[in-house]
Amino acid sequence: MSIVGIDKAALYSSHYAVELSTLASARGVDPDKYSVGLGLHTMAVSPPDEDIITLAANATAKLLEGESLTDIDTILFATESGIDQSKAAGIYIHRLFNLPKHCRTLELKQACYSATAGLQLGLSLLKDNPKRKILLIASDIARYGLNSSGEATQGAGAIAMLLTVNPRLVAIESGSGFVSEEAMDFWRPNYRDEALVDGKYSCELYLKLLRESFEEYSQVTGRVYADHQHFLYHIPFPRLAEKAHQKLMLCSLVSKLDSDSLSALLHPGFVYGRQIGNCYTASLYIGLLSLLEQHTQDLSGHRVGFYSYGSGACSEYFSGLIQPHYRKVLHASFHQALLAQRQILTYQEYEQFY
Ligand code: COA
Repeated sequence: MSIVGIDKAALYSSHYAVELSTLASARGVDPDKYSVGLGLHTMAVSPPDEDIITLAANATAKLLEGESLTDIDTILFATESGIDQSKAAGIYIHRLFNLPKHCRTLELKQACYSATAGLQLGLSLLKDNPKRKILLIASDIARYGLNSSGEATQGAGAIAMLLTVNPRLVAIESGSGFVSEEAMDFWRPNYRDEALVDGKYSCELYLKLLRESFEEYSQVTGRVYADHQHFLYHIPFPRLAEKAHQKLMLCSLVSKLDSDSLSALLHPGFVYGRQIGNCYTASLYIGLLSLLEQHTQDLSGHRVGFYSYGSGACSEYFSGLIQPHYRKVLHASFHQALLAQRQILTYQEYEQFY
């Protein structure tokens, strides 16, 4: 059986950001609510001339630098902030990068889960033809509305990934646990630009489906908590991912970690998310790059557990093995410079952009 997974990945986020302390003071909220209560520091803000396609194109440009394009025969574009109800966003990427004519292109939607659906679909296509390369993009702009309860958990970003056999970054292991359950925890009807969310309910459902999908994953694969060295979660805001990990330990009858050990385990995966905010379907995979680029140790051979959740709702738990020499294909300095060089907006500029 061939080894399949993520060969390379690159992320892009908006050039503009607002400090959550600025938002807190505009809203008359204690800044600790955002920095401690949600675990967020800044959030990326898209200017009016940026959308999921320009974000995706920038991530793809970095990903495809020096890459032979001839074997890319599939573009899977995951988003829940699409710009068209009919035409797949990946069609624009196909033209912009002059990708091969014999290429299939598809847009995927299921809230923040759809990149994982794209990953699993892409990996199964690779088993059919091991020469093929698949471009998987997750790109989203999270918008909840000015002065709404979700406002502090907005953000914008895209991640582009190349899926291949014998991947250099992370091999995705077969076997996963997945669950669907119809719920109105978060949705965006066709007539709205901003999402509607029942935030508390959404967090409860995220945690409930974590237990259900992890149990199924354990049953299918035989793997338990202790078989994983790292844990990544969909990150609408880092504090929820921390709660998720505590819940996973509780369900696995693992003794509680003190807050320093919990932070040491999860913090590397949160570094980019704390600065960018929620990127919906891209968030889990931005967490993966954050872990690989921010962890100080060599993680070769380590197993990572992934929890993907999309409101509405569908979730999946799966795992991957970090490949030897993965560091050679990272773009850590590019990503760090991208975030460090952003223009920080005043509150008035943020509102004008909005
Ligand atoms: N210092 C430290 N922590 C503080 C604080 C302060 N001064 N003030 C509040 N907090 C904590 C609260 O205790 C709470 O933590 P807890 O949940 O562990 O108790 C946290 O900050 C948030 O406060 P809360 O009053 O619950 O905030 P809120 O009612 O404004 O809503 C969300 C928070 C997350 C529900 C809201 O931002 C939201 O709906 N976001 C979108 C969520 C989403 O994307 N869901 C879909 C995908 S999963």
